[in-house]
Amino acid sequence: CGIVGYVGKQNTVDVVIDGLRRLEYRGYDSSGIAMVADGAIVCAKKAGKLANLESELDTMQVPEATTGIGHTRWATHGMPSDRNAHPHTSKDGSVAIIHNGIIENFAQLRTELENDGIEFASDTDTEVVAHLLGRILPAVGDLTEAMRATCERLEGAFTLLAVSKDHPDTVVGARRNSPLVVGVGENEYFMGSDVSAFIAHTKDAIELGQDQIVTITPQGVSVTNFDGTPSQGRAFQVDWDITAAEKGGFDSFMLKEIAEQPQAVADTLRGRVGENGEIVLDEVRMSDQDFRDIDKVFIVACGTSYHAGLVTKYAIEHWTRIPCEVELASEFRYRDPVLDRSTMVIAISQSGETMDTLMALRHAKDQKARVLSISNTVGSTIPRESHAVLYTRAGLEVAVASTKAFLTQLAACYLVGLHLAQVRGIKYADEVASVLRELVATPEKIDSLLEKMEEVRDLARQFSACQRVLFIGRHVGYPVALEGALKLKELAYMHAEGFAAGELKHGPISLIDDGTPVVAIVPSPRGRSLLHDKIVSNIQEVKARGATVIAICEEGDHIAATHADHVIFTPQSPTLLAPLLTAVPMQVFACELASALGHDIDQPRNLAKSVTVE
Ligand code: G6P
Repeated sequence: CGIVGYVGKQNTVDVVIDGLRRLEYRGYDSSGIAMVADGAIVCAKKAGKLANLESELDTMQVPEATTGIGHTRWATHGMPSDRNAHPHTSKDGSVAIIHNGIIENFAQLRTELENDGIEFASDTDTEVVAHLLGRILPAVGDLTEAMRATCERLEGAFTLLAVSKDHPDTVVGARRNSPLVVGVGENEYFMGSDVSAFIAHTKDAIELGQDQIVTITPQGVSVTNFDGTPSQGRAFQVDWDITAAEKGGFDSFMLKEIAEQPQAVADTLRGRVGENGEIVLDEVRMSDQDFRDIDKVFIVACGTSYHAGLVTKYAIEHWTRIPCEVELASEFRYRDPVLDRSTMVIAISQSGETMDTLMALRHAKDQKARVLSISNTVGSTIPRESHAVLYTRAGLEVAVASTKAFLTQLAACYLVGLHLAQVRGIKYADEVASVLRELVATPEKIDSLLEKMEEVRDLARQFSACQRVLFIGRHVGYPVALEGALKLKELAYMHAEGFAAGELKHGPISLIDDGTPVVAIVPSPRGRSLLHDKIVSNIQEVKARGATVIAICEEGDHIAATHADHVIFTPQSPTLLAPLLTAVPMQVFACELASALGHDIDQPRNLAKSVTVE
C-alpha cells in the first residue's frame, strides 16, 4: 500500500493526490483521502484506480484544508471496494486512519470492540485501529500519546497515519516493520511510504527506525520510540529528482525503464572497481576475515529478484567454489535452514522493504549468519538491517514489473561474487580479471541490442492470440527462462512457464502441441559448446512435436538459428554474463504482447511493486 501525509500551507488535496499518484505502483485497487477542515474530518474513498477517487472528489464540495492523509491500497483483508478502502474512521468520525501492513490480532480486537457496541463498516483489519484510537484519544487528549497507547494493543506489521478533528495541524504516524519516511519542507512536512510521495516538494528526508512514532505539524517534526523515549531519525538527501518519476516521452514507465538499462547498469558498476581491480562495497560492517570464514552462501529473494539470485548461484559457485543455495524468501525461515556464523545470506530486494525477504534476513541474523543485501533503495529496511550492502543504482523504478532493477541486480550480484572471490584468494585470477573487463563493456552491448528491438515487437504481436508460451534454457539461461515467463504472466496475464530445457522430456513436453510457442535461450556456441549442443537438441525435440521455436542466441550462432522458426540475436558475451543481454528481448516481448492485448503495462492487475506483508 502507498501512504501519504501532509501538514503545511498548501491545499492538502493537491499534495496528497499528487503523492498518491507517485505511490500508486505500491497498490492500486482502491484509494482514499481524509483531511481536517473546519473542525471536522472530511473523507473520500473509492474502489479502483486513483482516477476514480479524483472523479469522486470532483463531485464533492471539497473544503480548503492544509492537513491530510491519503492511501492507495493493495488488498489483504477484505476485497477491494469503496467500504474497504482507507481511510477508516472511528465511530463518531473524529479520527481517521490509514494503514499499510497486517494487524494480526484484529479478530480479537474486533470482538472486544463489538462487545462495546461498535458496529463495523468494513471487512478490514485496519478499522479496529480507528475505533481503538477513537476510544483512547478522549481519555488521553494528545494524539501522539493516544497513537502510542493504541500501538501497544496491536500485533503484526503496520505503518499507520492518523488525523483527528481536534488536532487540525497534526498528522501522527507509527511504524513497525512497514516503511515510512518523513519529508522536510519549509513550514510544511510530509510522510510517505517512500520518498517519491513528496519528491515534487522536497529532497530533504528523515529515515525512521522500527517501533517509532512520528508527529508532524507546520512547526516541526518529533520522533519518539514506542516506549515514549525521544529519538531522532537519520536525515538524508534524496539523490534523484522529479524527472525520474515522470514518463519522459515514453508511453509507459516500463518502456522508459527498459530504455534506461544501459545507463542503469553502467551506474551500478561505476566506481565499484578500485585501482587494483578490487571490488568496493557500499557499507560493510564485516571484516575481510569474516568474508574468508564463509563456507556457505544462501541467497534469499522474491519474484524477479529471486531470478537474479538464481543466476548468481552459477557465478558464485564457479568463481569462489563456495556452495551457494538460492531460496524463495517466503519459504526460507519456515523450513529451518542450516545456518551459522560461517554462512553468508545474500538478500536481494529492489524495494528493500519486501516483508518475506526481511523476515528471512532476520531469521538468518538470529542464527548468527552474516547478511549482505543488494537493494535499489537507499535507507530502506533490508539494507539497514544487513551487515554489508551493495546498492544497485537503477534509479526509481515505477513500473510494477521489474526490468532495469533486474539487470542492475545481476550486475551487483556479479560484483559480489567477484568480491568474494578476491577476498578469499582467487582460483581463477585471469578469468576474474577478464570477467570484470567484459562486465564493464556490457552497457554498450545492451544499448546496441535495444536498437534492434523492433523485430522483437513485430514478433510479439504475432503471438498475442496464443494460449500459452513456454520458455526453456540451460545453465544461467534457465533462470532467464523463468524470468521471461514471469514477465509474460505479470504483463500479458498469459499462461507462461519456464523450464530447464533438460527437464522438458520428463514431463512438460506433453504441453507442446501444434504451434505452441517455445522461447529457447541458447548459450554461446563458443567455449561451453556442450551446453549449446544440448539445447540445440532440445529445440529439435520440441520442433518434432509441433512447437514454433523462437531462439534467443548469440550473434554468429548459425547452428541454433537454422533449427528455429524465429531468431533474436544478442551480442556476444561470456556465458555467465549473458543474462544481462538475453533478459532484454524477453522484457520487450512481454511488454509488446501485453500492449497488443490492451493491458495496463505499468500497473498489471492484482500486483503491487512493494509487498510489505508476508
Ligand atoms: C513484488 C513485485 C515484483 C518483485 C517482488 C520482489 O512481487 O511485483 O516485481 O520482483 O515483489 O520485490 P523486491 O522489492 O524485494 O525486489
